[in-house]
Amino acid sequence: MTSEKPTMSGQTMIEFKDVHKYYGDYHALRGITATIKAGEFFSLLGPSGCGKTTLLRTIAGFEGISSGVVMIDGKDMVSVPANVRPTNMVFQSYAIFPHLTVEQNVGFGLRKDPRSKAEKAAAVAEALEMVGLKGYGARAAHALSGGQRQRVALARALILKPKVLLLDEPLSALDKKMREQMQMELIKLQRQVGITFILVTHDQEEALVMSDRIAVMFEGEIAQLADPETLYRRPNSRKVADFIGTMNFLPAEILSEIDGKVEVEAKGFGRLTLDAEQVSVAPGSSSASIGFRPETLTILFDGQTATDRESRAEVVEVVYYGDMTYYDIKLEGTTEPMRLSMRNVFGRPVLDIGTQTRVAWSPGALVLFR
Ligand SMILES: Nc1ncnc2c1ncn2[C@@H]1O[C@H](COP(=O)(O)OP(=O)(O)O)[C@@H](O)[C@H]1O
Ligand SMILES: [Mg+2]
Repeated sequence: MTSEKPTMSGQTMIEFKDVHKYYGDYHALRGITATIKAGEFFSLLGPSGCGKTTLLRTIAGFEGISSGVVMIDGKDMVSVPANVRPTNMVFQSYAIFPHLTVEQNVGFGLRKDPRSKAEKAAAVAEALEMVGLKGYGARAAHALSGGQRQRVALARALILKPKVLLLDEPLSALDKKMREQMQMELIKLQRQVGITFILVTHDQEEALVMSDRIAVMFEGEIAQLADPETLYRRPNSRKVADFIGTMNFLPAEILSEIDGKVEVEAKGFGRLTLDAEQVSVAPGSSSASIGFRPETLTILFDGQTATDRESRAEVVEVVYYGDMTYYDIKLEGTTEPMRLSMRNVFGRPVLDIGTQTRVAWSPGALVLFR
């Protein structure tokens, strides 16, 4: 997942240097520093109101910044107006013209293009094919489904061959099935065209599925910028861990610290030693806790043995999902239930509430927050 795609050159496409943005007194962007590489599928992820759209709009030039620098392809954008920036935006509300045909919508941006009619028509046809709308050119835009409208919006942005495509929650109005299908198509499309895509989303699953790298934002700041696997496995704070998927937290006591290795004691797990890279230090935090994902604990069924560590637990809640079962368990000696997930295997029972069981876990899959 972390290997670079052929379309990624490793060159910097966007650079933010200590970007601040005030709306009146409101401090919407609080010192954003980050680089986005050429050919990258990059996501801005965070809860509503954290500043994702604002940051995206500073790239497009729809929003001026209060201080700092935004560079695109090596150029400071401070005095470059939106309409001449090498960017194009696809909005959440498709913003297509319902009274025009699909072709007319896609070709809209080519109005002032000096190319011949035939050349423009060929460009429109190419863009439509790219987004899977070949043969739809003559249709009235108002007669399209939500997914098709979003494709038209994409084609209209791509036909201008921007260096950077900005996507502000483009799929959030679609139902789950359609959204998942469009996610896959967007990934393919991005690989095919090789343009830098910057996606705004509040949906952590969407960001994990689609992105080469993700900036997780809270309250106008980037909390962590990393590839999906690192964000999931090694979140740098409890806040990031909580926002991305489910993470259990078990209170822990730090016993010793030698050469970066930390020895901790946690009720339910006992004593264990963690490597420096498993430790996330949050400024100002007072108590330590061990974090682990639901799938890092495995129920041991009769006769199974653990290759690693083992704990006793009681099942207190069971939620059956067909392919998976989610259990809430209480580790021996603890009071807070922890979430555990198991892939269902044919012939293996789903445990009942109240079952006493054993669970296996590996210290390497844990994170210490302190
Ligand atoms: N034009 C504006 N004037 C005043 N406040 C704004 C304006 N645009 C956004 N904000 C505020 O800035 C914060 C970030 O907004 P936004 O970037 O739209 O968040 P997100 O896209 O992450 O949901 C919000 O609190 C929002 O109310
Ligand atoms: Mg937004």
